[in-house]
Amino acid sequence: MKRSLIAIQDFSVEELQELMDTANDIIANPSGYSELCRGKKIATLFFEPSTRTRLSFEAAMLELGGAVIGFSEAQSSSAAKGESVADTAKVISCYADIIAMRHPKEGAPLVAAMNASIPVINAGDGGHNHPTQTLADLLTIYREKGRLGNLTVGICGDLKFGRTVHSLIAALSRYEGIRFVLISPEELKLPSYVKKEILKANNIPYVQTTDLEAVMPELDILYMTRVQRERFFNEEDYLRLKDSYILTPERLYNAKKDLCIMHPLPRVNEISVAIDDDPRACYFKQVLYGKYMRMALILKLLKEAGTL
Ligand code: CP
Repeated sequence: MKRSLIAIQDFSVEELQELMDTANDIIANPSGYSELCRGKKIATLFFEPSTRTRLSFEAAMLELGGAVIGFSEAQSSSAAKGESVADTAKVISCYADIIAMRHPKEGAPLVAAMNASIPVINAGDGGHNHPTQTLADLLTIYREKGRLGNLTVGICGDLKFGRTVHSLIAALSRYEGIRFVLISPEELKLPSYVKKEILKANNIPYVQTTDLEAVMPELDILYMTRVQRERFFNEEDYLRLKDSYILTPERLYNAKKDLCIMHPLPRVNEISVAIDDDPRACYFKQVLYGKYMRMALILKLLKEAGTL
């Protein structure tokens, strides 16, 4: 049966574990996977800029032996002539076996999934969700910490517009012993709907603060995020808030020795490059793990659709 990934909640905890197990097996035995998608195509439909997500989907399919079609900006597609997302999904279903779609409008990949006859993967929809970034994040935490529960997770920066944050909170809230420390300027606090529907609904402990330094010693994970310039209504507010948090080696003075520092990237100014060589910096590993999780995801969705 055709199945899509629109929000991380579409997968059970058992399925997330299955994806991580597959990704770990691909890492250990890449040649065993190099022909599994021979003759299959992924369409990457990116209506918004991307480096990691689009290219990692493409690398993932190529490493599985498949092929790639697609576009990297709305202007080079017939969306520029007024074609709807629904029609685009129907058309691409005639050409490809699976779609990865990024769109600035919340809900666009869901509309695509409702109209496509092939699986659709949400590769980021507006300020809403980014479930495949969460797959990368989960594998990073699992490999670095050896567990996904019993962790104090600090999330810092733009918690309002940061779609990776919303998906990560939804995913981690399903594991035992998770506690969130939400660090942001007042104007960029986590949206009320995420607090109500995920944190409060599941009795997940959390605190909100503006002070990163004060909470640093408690953290097992520090997930830094970029202030999302493209979602701001005025440039003045962006300029005032963009450098609210800049992580430097000095600011880690009271951090745990085994802190795991993450960032979905791209970074602008949130983490000094001087931290890149710190063994606690995990953000480039996150990029690599994202490719393996997308390989595992493509295999799962194509198998369930009966295409493999
Ligand atoms: N993390 C992430 O979504 O990066 P890109 O915007 O480059 O895809």
